Amino acid sequence: MKRRQFLSGIAVGGAALTTGLTIGLQGQNPPTCPPAPVNGIPFRRGQDTRPVIQRKAVSSLSSSQISQLRLAFARLRSLPSTDNRRWVIQADMHALYCQACNHDRVQSVHHSWIFFPWHRAFIYYFERILGSLVGDINHFRLPYWDWENHRFQPEIYAIPANSSNSLYDANRYAPINQGANLPSTDGSAKRIALLYGITDFATFGGTASRGGACESNPHDAIHDDIGLHTSPFHDMGHLGYAARDPIFYAHHCNIDKIWSNWNALSATRPSPAYRNPTDPAFLSERWNFYDENRRTVSMSAADVLNYPSYLRYTYPAPTTVRRSSSTEESQAPEQSQAPIVNMYEGRLKYSGSISGPVLDLSYRVKTSLIEAVRNQDSVAIVLREVPMPKSATGVFDIVSVRGFSVKHLGVIAVVADAMQMGNMPKTVVLDATEAVDDLVNESNPARITVVPRNGNGGSFTLHAEEMDLRVISRR
Ligand code: C2O
Repeated sequence: MKRRQFLSGIAVGGAALTTGLTIGLQGQNPPTCPPAPVNGIPFRRGQDTRPVIQRKAVSSLSSSQISQLRLAFARLRSLPSTDNRRWVIQADMHALYCQACNHDRVQSVHHSWIFFPWHRAFIYYFERILGSLVGDINHFRLPYWDWENHRFQPEIYAIPANSSNSLYDANRYAPINQGANLPSTDGSAKRIALLYGITDFATFGGTASRGGACESNPHDAIHDDIGLHTSPFHDMGHLGYAARDPIFYAHHCNIDKIWSNWNALSATRPSPAYRNPTDPAFLSERWNFYDENRRTVSMSAADVLNYPSYLRYTYPAPTTVRRSSSTEESQAPEQSQAPIVNMYEGRLKYSGSISGPVLDLSYRVKTSLIEAVRNQDSVAIVLREVPMPKSATGVFDIVSVRGFSVKHLGVIAVVADAMQMGNMPKTVVLDATEAVDDLVNESNPARITVVPRNGNGGSFTLHAEEMDLRVISRR
């Protein structure tokens, strides 16, 4: 497949260069990875006959489930160094798939349409290992951190703040471990609701060669918020180390839940809205893991799509319908009804010395956007193939600026990794709802500006190969 050739091209041809860049720009090396598993026994759909058990929010775990979770991670952490199920090997499985690790088997599981299915497969085997370590593989399921509702890291991951707590990791941005809220724009309920207005998988979840909008925010942004904010960005802020933090798994179960809830919106919409790719190139992607019996196993993207039947877990049913235009609500982004979405054309326009583009829209489109906001619909700007500067790491706020009026539109986040693949062009979905008046202003339209957060590497001018606008209506 094209993409894989491209990536191994980087790995082999650019190995020396990569190391140089890594040390020069980010001051970090990839972890010393074990050899990648190969030729695993293929997963057979239907082989898993355990009961179907719900994954729960961390906040709704019972005290015995919390003890079991702590025990599972503690046992995983104390496996002997010869055991291929052990903590660092599991964590490095994630690194194996995201950087060179001194061998040529690199395949990035980020920045493309395999982002969702690979992480689902990885967590499936990880969850089985934890379950078997506490002697309850049938019923043990990992919890998710629903950060869209609970804005601070669940206490069990930080208290007690020492190695007696198997869920604790000192390599986190200190305020997060002390219970600070996530930045209000990152992975918020409003953000998730906006993403549920994106009906095509290519924009939401990516293509063979590009990551989707869900990957940059919430996924990447929350990684960066939890990890150290400066080099070396460990653990969560660096893809080579992220899976060494137990919160990684609660984060990814939530990402998995959001993918699942997005798919569930397909029930009331004709294909291909809210459907996964049907391209054989996607379905046949296959990866190797270790299972709870230390065997090398493999799973394909096609194997994970019907996860309740074949992987034997579910999430609580999404029930509440809410409007994305409200900033007040802090609860229940889940929705069971798909919105009505209309697409409009637009372009980014650059002029003279102005430091960011303005929207170039026809009179008809401007009128429709103003009308949409009046009706309390949401307006999304979809940007594809947004080039990123090589040195960018961390979170960048995207704002509209018109005189003194500054409105937040969204974020672009880059998680550090040794190969700097995070700097591949991105798919970005911005929320223009609150800024429409400024953006469509006739004489002096707002320009769209990138503001680096936390003093991270320099600003850049926003560009995109393609764009469109979507009016998302929940009436
Ligand atoms: Cu593989 Cu959250 O990253």
